[in-house]
Amino acid sequence: MKSWFFRFFTSSIGKKLLMALTGLFLILFLMVHLAGNLQLLYNDGGVAFNVYADFMAHNPLIQLVSKGNFAFILLHAIVGTVLWVRNRSARGSQGYAVQKTKATQTNAGFAKNMWYLGVIVFVFIIIHLLQFWAMMKFGDVGADVNLVDIDGKQVKNLYALVEVAFTNMPFVFFYVLSMAVIAFHLWHGFQSAFQTIGWNHPKYTPVVQFLGKAYSVLVPLGFAVIPIVFYLRHA
Ligand code: HEM
Repeated sequence: MKSWFFRFFTSSIGKKLLMALTGLFLILFLMVHLAGNLQLLYNDGGVAFNVYADFMAHNPLIQLVSKGNFAFILLHAIVGTVLWVRNRSARGSQGYAVQKTKATQTNAGFAKNMWYLGVIVFVFIIIHLLQFWAMMKFGDVGADVNLVDIDGKQVKNLYALVEVAFTNMPFVFFYVLSMAVIAFHLWHGFQSAFQTIGWNHPKYTPVVQFLGKAYSVLVPLGFAVIPIVFYLRHA
């Protein structure tokens, strides 16, 4: 017999809750990732960033969270696709004609766009992981990634890897455009997640909505600044 846990998370409301919880975790990840990446902007030849990246790569707790992060990205993408497919087939059925109010149309429109935006974000993440994460983890030291001496310790020079990517104009465009897509995805996603978990308060909901909108603009903007600064610095 299937457990209540399995039944809940495969139900319609359970799937929406999964989307909200994994989405909120990824929102948190993005903020931490940005804070770490902003160290790329120090004009120190990459010392601060390489020390940070080395710490992240060797801390067992961070590595555990990292595995959860990958699992949540996949879960978010798979459950989102299942919901999208189900919504699409529901729209073709009689039920849609009955519920065709302005609000549901707007919601359906948003949900549809969210899937398309999500697919672009997913493709971005795959390319991004191949470019940096996989290189750092599995790249050939000497050929793909170099070692650098920091205070007598040999660490992987991830900064140099980032530098190669962001002094390449097509990559700078790709990153900046992807950040715009992420901003749109977050704009709706943040509010939708709070709505799903049923967090509603007359005083605090407008504040949370404002913070969500500010986050959706500022975090992608923070990421987009990095390739632009790198490109201009080395132009
Ligand atoms: C300027 C923008 C960005 C730069 C320079 C950057 C850089 C990096 C680097 C160097 C790594 C490998 C080292 C590490 O794990 O920290 C990495 C990993 C990763 N990045 Fe980014 N990143 C950027 C934007 C993003 C964005 C917007 C997303 C998501 C939408 C993202 C998702 C990830 C993920 C999921 C990992 C794997 C982290 C893990 O090990 O759990 N990155 N990034």
